[in-house]
Amino acid sequence: MRNQSQSVDEELETLDRTVGMSPLVAGGNRTLSIIVLGASGDLAKKKTFPALWGLYREGLLPPEARIVGYARSKLSAAEFEKHVTQYIKVGDNAALQEKLRAFTALCSYVACTTYESEESMAALADYLTAHVEGSAPSLPLPPSHTPPPFPSPCRGWR
Ligand SMILES: NC(=O)c1ccc[n+]([C@@H]2O[C@H](COP(=O)([O-])OP(=O)(O)OC[C@H]3O[C@@H](n4cnc5c(N)ncnc54)[C@H](OP(=O)(O)O)[C@@H]3O)[C@@H](O)[C@H]2O)c1
Repeated sequence: MRNQSQSVDEELETLDRTVGMSPLVAGGNRTLSIIVLGASGDLAKKKTFPALWGLYREGLLPPEARIVGYARSKLSAAEFEKHVTQYIKVGDNAALQEKLRAFTALCSYVACTTYESEESMAALADYLTAHVEGSAPSLPLPPSHTPPPFPSPCRGWR
């Protein structure tokens, strides 16, 4: 969308430059962090992580993007990696296997005690402050479960 100081010509020029690019990479060097709440669940395993892998594989995520899984289950790093990759198929393609390793290196997991508590959200905020910048949420949670408003640095979550 055009901001107030941008002329129509400038807006068109911007659109020309970014046409065909993912909106996630068209913004230049901005860091992107995707937070997957309910990351331990079936939907995350079968759909969310494979979809994020698809974006990464096609070069539609910025190389510096980070993906942070968040849920109550206590998952070790190895368990989380298995959860992320279980439904991703790369066969014996060495280049894709290498790319998948790079993708999983972008993924990390934070366990919470409850989704509702401000302490848990504060712990997530601390983790993000220490490890990542920016944020974009993904919410494969049951509909009954809406987490509380996200504290800084998670502002801007949609
Ligand atoms: N699975 C699919 O293919 C699929 C397809 C379309 C739509 N959906 C919808 O997506 C949502 C998630 O489905 P799912 O199959 O991923 O379910 P699931 O396997 O039970 O996973 C639910 C996730 O939400 C977390 N969670 C938070 N509060 C919860 C609560 N009170 N009860 C259960 N889990 C809770 C769980 O993590 P922790 O317990 O570790 O916190 C887990 O990560 C549901 O609304 C479902 O109808 C699923």
